[in-house]
Amino acid sequence: MRKKIAAANWKMNLTWQQGNELVQSLLGATPSMQDTHQVILSVPFPYLASVSSMTKGTSGYQVAAQNCHHLAAGAYTGEVSAGMLASIGIPYCLVGHSERREYNGETNAVLADKLVRCIENSIRPIFCCGEPLAIRDQGQQNEYVARQLQESLFVLSAEQVGQAVIAYEPIWAIGTGRTASSEQAQAMHLHIRQVLEVHYGQQLAGQIPILYGGSVKASNADELFACPDVDGALVGGASLVASEFTAIVNALCKS
Ligand code: 13P
Repeated sequence: MRKKIAAANWKMNLTWQQGNELVQSLLGATPSMQDTHQVILSVPFPYLASVSSMTKGTSGYQVAAQNCHHLAAGAYTGEVSAGMLASIGIPYCLVGHSERREYNGETNAVLADKLVRCIENSIRPIFCCGEPLAIRDQGQQNEYVARQLQESLFVLSAEQVGQAVIAYEPIWAIGTGRTASSEQAQAMHLHIRQVLEVHYGQQLAGQIPILYGGSVKASNADELFACPDVDGALVGGASLVASEFTAIVNALCKS
């Protein structure tokens, strides 16, 4: 069975003092987890090592970087490679978040390279995909997301793709308070699974967790997690509030 995952994405928020307090609160409040369930904290680079060591003793907790460079090494001031993340024991990395696609010009081809860098370094990529509002309004979301998968994720072999997690984050639902309905989320997750199945076969398609992201909160988590193809959430704003994120983890553990 595929894992159920509640992933936090802090983005560029919180001082280290605030982040430390948040992690302490979560560790104190979240239920002990079976190995079918996982919490992943995607935190800013400077906090990765500290959050890793804080969560080490708590089963079910993992840490993710929010990005890595698409090349292995070199004269790229200010950048961080997948190899560097691996060298400090980081197990996951977000790849292709819509904010990076938009503000940093990350193309499907660059993201394919990032996926390869992650896999080469035994880092599990959390590959983000999702359509803008104009595409949804034209009813073209299935084709748009299939293309993101084909042009980036499909660079991975069948053997490699089993390491990946997918996060479907419709751009119109990110930070807007406008969540996709559970029907919209389920329909897209099923579509993604079918696209995976055509390329990688039924067994692998059934193994890859597909998370939903976009205005997930304590109040809508139960409904989203009840969808058969929604295997968890990638949470932005609500992951910065201990009580909200704890409630989302609780909802996941009940699902
Ligand atoms: P919000 O939960 O704030 O909508 O952000 C979603 C997101 O982008 C997570 O990566």
